[in-house]
Amino acid sequence: MSVAGKARKVTTQTLQEMKEAGEKITMLTAYDFSLAKLVDGGGVDVILVGDSASNVMAGNETTVPITLDEMIYHATCVVRAVNRALIVVDMPFGSYQGDSKTALDSAIRIMKESGGHSVKLEGGEEIVESVQRILTAGIPVMGHLGLTPQSIYKFGSYATRAQEDDEADKLVADAKILERAGCYAIVLEKIPASLAKKVTEAVSIPTIGIGAGPNVDGQVLVLHDMLGITMDFSPRFLRRYLELSTQITGAVENYVNDVRSGDFPNDDESYF
Ligand code: KIV
Repeated sequence: MSVAGKARKVTTQTLQEMKEAGEKITMLTAYDFSLAKLVDGGGVDVILVGDSASNVMAGNETTVPITLDEMIYHATCVVRAVNRALIVVDMPFGSYQGDSKTALDSAIRIMKESGGHSVKLEGGEEIVESVQRILTAGIPVMGHLGLTPQSIYKFGSYATRAQEDDEADKLVADAKILERAGCYAIVLEKIPASLAKKVTEAVSIPTIGIGAGPNVDGQVLVLHDMLGITMDFSPRFLRRYLELSTQITGAVENYVNDVRSGDFPNDDESYF
């Protein structure tokens, strides 16, 4: 049986074993109880309570505004729903960059108040002190390199990262730094496929790509994007498995028409 098939509950160790066995890791985001239950039931290995909640749940333009309290709220809802997947919670902008004591306090709040299983931080060398301090408390840490949306105002756009040699070299070096610091996995976002392959071969921990091509140890997508709920976002890397926005709007229109015409509720839908 596969490593993933054997795991009653997925742990960071399971992911490491999957990399070593050449089994692909599956990861999706979730932010609420109902969808997290469906995602877990679908057999995904890792559920990310992403700070993309800032965009898809709250309607913000960037991930910058979401707060630690809001992330803990979303994570708590997800934790109540999940039986099998490993849950990783994004540390929001401002909760870990300044100093490692703040980072540790934020990570402890996430773990204690939400019941999540691990945290994710964006960045390489510049945040490694925070990563190390969080790890001293026994909290598993996932890294995130490449396009790091919390730095959108530094980048100026959501374009592909590390296309030039100096940025690509720094990214490989950062991946090794995160591995040495003790991260259990690294997300690689929107970088050339050849670079993602190089990073995946350079580190012994799993790499999980989004817009990073096929030569990584796993893939992650934002749930609302792959379900076709967010239709105004169509990057090249996104595969839509449903067109839920069309179906949901159609269902709402049908309901509105049925109520207005008196068709709903009928006798079978009423109490006598
Ligand atoms: O917040 C998020 O959804 C993420 C993924 C894009 C990896 O960090």
